Amino acid sequence: MNFTGAHILSINQFQREDVDRVFAVADKMEPYALRKRVTRVLEGAILGNMFFEASTRTRVSFGSAFNLLGGEVRETAGFENSALVKGESLQDTARVLSGFSDVICMRHPEAGSVADFAAASRVPVLNGGDGANEHPTQALLDLYTIRKEMSDKGRDIDGLSVAMIGDLRHGRTVHSLSKLLLLYNDIRVVLISPKELTLPDSIVESMRAAGVDVTVSHELTQSIADVDIAYSTRIQEERFSSKQEADLYRGKFRLNQAIYTQYCQPNTVIMHPLPRDSRKDANELDSDLDDNPNLAIFRQTDNGVLVRMALFALVLDVADKVDDFSHDVHWYNSRQSPSNS
Ligand code: NCD
Repeated sequence: MNFTGAHILSINQFQREDVDRVFAVADKMEPYALRKRVTRVLEGAILGNMFFEASTRTRVSFGSAFNLLGGEVRETAGFENSALVKGESLQDTARVLSGFSDVICMRHPEAGSVADFAAASRVPVLNGGDGANEHPTQALLDLYTIRKEMSDKGRDIDGLSVAMIGDLRHGRTVHSLSKLLLLYNDIRVVLISPKELTLPDSIVESMRAAGVDVTVSHELTQSIADVDIAYSTRIQEERFSSKQEADLYRGKFRLNQAIYTQYCQPNTVIMHPLPRDSRKDANELDSDLDDNPNLAIFRQTDNGVLVRMALFALVLDVADKVDDFSHDVHWYNSRQSPSNS
C-alpha cells in the first residue's frame, strides 16, 4: 500500500509487507520514545485528535506519538463539547477540521463513521475505533507486541496459537486483530466467549478462508491450555442496550494467577487491549497477575506509541527523515527501558 497521504481505517487495507513496513519504522522510533533522542521532523504539523467516545490511552498515545515527532496536538473530546450537538454533520466537521490539521485521529461510537468522516476530509484520517467495527492501530500494536514477545522466545508470528477471550462480538480490537492474524501462516485461533458474544461470522469465515485453524469455545480453562498468547478483553458494556444485559456476561471468563498456573503453558503471554475492568463483578484479568513476567499489558501500551509514531511518519512521508532532524536529550531521563522489562 502507498502510505503517503493514506487514511488508515481498517486492517483490510493491509498486506503482510505493509505490516512489516510499519514494524520496521516502529523499531526505529524506540530511541525517541525512550527519550534517548529528540526529533523535530514534524515541527509545524498539527494533529487534530477527535475522540467522541471514552478514551484514555488511545487518545494520549496518539497525541504523545505526534508530540514525540515534534508536532502539535489539538483535541476535541466528547459530543457535548463539539458542534455535533448543534446538528453539524460529520462531513462538515471533517471539511472544517481538515483545514486546521495535517492529520486527524478519530474515535466515534458508530461503525463506519470514521470512514464517512475521512471521505470528506482533506487530510489523512486514522481510525481510533469506530463503534464495534474496528480499531486498526490497536491491532497493529498488539501484533507488534506479539512479535517482540515471541522473538524473545525464538519464535515468529507464523505458527502461533492465540486465544481471544471475552466479548468477541462487540470487541473492535479482536475484530481488527483477527483480520491481521489471517495474513500469517499456520495460525491457530481459539475464540472463547459466551454463546451470545461470539466473533462475527464474516470475520470467522475470512480467517478460515485464509487457512487459519479456528476453534470456537464457551469455556476458559481447557481452551487456554495450549496457546502461546491469551488475549483477554472487557465486556463492552457501552454496546449493550442496558447495564443489566451486560451484567449477564460480566465475570464469566476470569484469568488469574491460579488459573494461569494450573492450565496455561509456563510461557503463555497474557495480553489485554485495556482498560481491564477491575470491578469485583468483572475482573477479567486479576491484578494478582501483575508480577507475572508474561503479563505484557503495559508493554502493549508502551509499544502503542512506537506503532503510532510509525504510522504518522509513514502517512506524512517522513519515515526516512526522522534521524535527520534529531538531537540528544539534555534533561534528566528516568525512562530507559519499556515497563515490565
Ligand atoms: C479498547 C477499545 O476502545 O476498543 N481500548 C483501547 O483502545 N485500548 C478496548 C476496550 O475499551 O475494551
